[in-house]
Amino acid sequence: MLITRKAEFSASHVCAQSSLTPEQNRALYGLAANPNGHGHNYVLEVTLEGDPDPATGMVFDLKQLKEIIHKAVIEPMDHRFLNYEVPPFDKVVPTAENVAAEIWNRLEPSFEGSPARLQNVRLYETDDLYVDYAGARQ
Ligand code: NI
Repeated sequence: MLITRKAEFSASHVCAQSSLTPEQNRALYGLAANPNGHGHNYVLEVTLEGDPDPATGMVFDLKQLKEIIHKAVIEPMDHRFLNYEVPPFDKVVPTAENVAAEIWNRLEPSFEGSPARLQNVRLYETDDLYVDYAGARQ
């Protein structure tokens, strides 16, 4: 069974590589390369997979899931300029893909040894663009 919890945060970013010229970054990332940055209201969907506990009827304690998401993602990323305030985005370009992977990496350890496993991280950067990440390929 899959269960999904949603959370939102707002953050700014610049999509550019320090090894490229401003013209090259502009060609690659378009307006997102503007060094002043721009913001997004990110919408995050965290999906767990597991069987409901016969006693509680729950796959995972949703109150606890909310706290895990808050501590691992919302607290460190909300109202931050990702490139300057949230490692590894001082070195890794904070595209939606890379932000989703970082969120996965921050959440995943919380479910080790738990009956539920992290199944998917979906990150909406805008209403019409989202990334799904389900961990690195083995
Ligand atoms: Ni952007």
